[in-house]
Amino acid sequence: MLSKIKKIINDFNNELSSISNNSSLENLRLKYFSKKGVFTNLFEEFKNLPSDQKPAVGKELNIAKNKCLQLFNELKEKVSNGKNETTNYVDLSLPGRLQEQGSKHILTQTLDEMKAIFKGLGFSIHEGPELESDFNNFEALNFPADHPARDMQDTFFINSDFLLRTHTSPVQIRLMGKQKPPIRAIMPGKVFRNEAVSYKSFCLFHQLEGLYVDTDVTFAELKGTIVAFLRQFYGEDIKFRFRPSFFPFTEPSAEVDIWYVPQGAENGRWMEVLGCGMVDPNVLKNVGVDPEKFTGYAFGMGIERTAMAKYGINDIRTFFDNDKRFLKQF
Ligand code: DAH
Repeated sequence: MLSKIKKIINDFNNELSSISNNSSLENLRLKYFSKKGVFTNLFEEFKNLPSDQKPAVGKELNIAKNKCLQLFNELKEKVSNGKNETTNYVDLSLPGRLQEQGSKHILTQTLDEMKAIFKGLGFSIHEGPELESDFNNFEALNFPADHPARDMQDTFFINSDFLLRTHTSPVQIRLMGKQKPPIRAIMPGKVFRNEAVSYKSFCLFHQLEGLYVDTDVTFAELKGTIVAFLRQFYGEDIKFRFRPSFFPFTEPSAEVDIWYVPQGAENGRWMEVLGCGMVDPNVLKNVGVDPEKFTGYAFGMGIERTAMAKYGINDIRTFFDNDKRFLKQF
């Protein structure tokens, strides 16, 4: 009989959990607690038990009935107050919940626009991994092990051979390693630098790398491509300048500044947006391309910088805060 009591408690609990209104509650009451109900029958059965079993069974039976009755009364109160979660009650006077529509992040929009322009100029698109070897990130790009130029880029090392890439230039190495010239490609992606975070530098940002290698590629072509890009991206009357610079993997090298007026500022200033140059013959040699036969140009630009200059954004950190008030403006 003890197992029978257990089963009845189980059944009762199951039925209780599906109650949603007064009439199903009343049916439950009739089934279990009325004069012909389950518990009355159990007490009848109890009377006929041998007397040595009566104390133990009687105790369980009373506990079971009281517990079930208590649960029943609690639910009854909830249902009569209209508070039972399982009641199918819809308040039609409540205001609706607005489904907000998502949109593309401003960095994705900027990158899409940049890709479209370079596609129009005949560039294909390639990607490389964010975890790079020291060889691809530095060595093959003409940064020897103890070269001071490595200090230009504060690196997150994984171990002595691997690191989080500090720029997208290693994708040039990967691409030239597996494809023979002519190569005309852009390579966008995330890069990482172990720098003090401020309005102008963040530990993570995005770059877009460009590479063109073929016979007789000239600096004039590099300049033409960059200028075509700047004019399409920022508008025909964008003011820019090329400045001589240094990168270990290009010779000669240049940096490009554009004239930029920060939001709310009265005066404009020059802002560096990209580095570029003719691929150093050493780099071509490192990937098995004959520098006597081929020349190339390369460029690399920060995507955040590019977007900041276009939209007058003053702080690079805003790209990563995911503050809807910022994101919704674009
Ligand atoms: N990798 C450089 C940096 O992160 C940018 C760069 C400069 C890329 C010149 C190039 C280049 O391809 O030719 O600062």
